[in-house]
Amino acid sequence: MVNIIQVTDFHYGSEFQDEYFDNMIQYIKDNNPDAVIVSGDLVHKGRYRQYQKFLPYYERLKEVAPHIIAIPGNHDVKNNGIIFFEKLIGPRRSTLLLPEKNTIIVGVCSAKDDVSTGEIGDEQLDWVARQFNESTLENRIIAMHHHAIAVPYSGRKQTTLTDAGEMIELAQLFKVDLIIMGHKHIPHAYVIGPTTFLYCGTSTSNKVRADDTPSFNHIILDEGDLEVQMVNSITLKKSLLLERKEGHTRFVRPRRTRIEHLLKSEVWDD
Ligand SMILES: [Fe+2]
Repeated sequence: MVNIIQVTDFHYGSEFQDEYFDNMIQYIKDNNPDAVIVSGDLVHKGRYRQYQKFLPYYERLKEVAPHIIAIPGNHDVKNNGIIFFEKLIGPRRSTLLLPEKNTIIVGVCSAKDDVSTGEIGDEQLDWVARQFNESTLENRIIAMHHHAIAVPYSGRKQTTLTDAGEMIELAQLFKVDLIIMGHKHIPHAYVIGPTTFLYCGTSTSNKVRADDTPSFNHIILDEGDLEVQMVNSITLKKSLLLERKEGHTRFVRPRRTRIEHLLKSEVWDD
């Protein structure tokens, strides 16, 4: 069993809330996860000064996280910020092995210099495949910023990878348990075959969509079984987002649909 906390889209420099960050740190400290995954947009504009000011916050996060893996988002690479991400935060892609937890986490960079669209690219796809080829660890996780599959509420910009199909196929071929994403601040999940596609809200900013709350994901993965609790960054109240047990999936829709908000339709779960 591996215990992971996904935090994301801090957006330091724009609508960032110290109070939410403090709450998140406290939760991580109290729950002692095996690893923390940061899925991009740590800073808002990618500027050197912004990274410098954010660093003490990142140090606090590293202090409470025994293992941490961070990958850049489109905001981190604005204004050539990828240079400072790699200088001050870490490499744009990396693999975290937790052999005692039978777990491999592969973080890839879907962000590209100065554009908001995402792509993994052939060279990285090859690299990801090699990470899984060379590993016998059974809990398999990929972390990236952009979306493999479009989510509701994500607006009219292109939010999915230009090579999303390749990534989905790769996940199926290597029986990846979980693809973890950030980007549009929308907690959500889909399941295709062995893979759960998990999306997270903004953990430390007010950049929420509709009447969502800032949040982060607490994940327990255990030989194919999965439980994801969405944690409210203001109250630290948990609510179940997804549960997979022996191949049976329960997804708890965390919000009204956009159409329910806009029109008179009501949409039922069952
Ligand atoms: Fe973001």
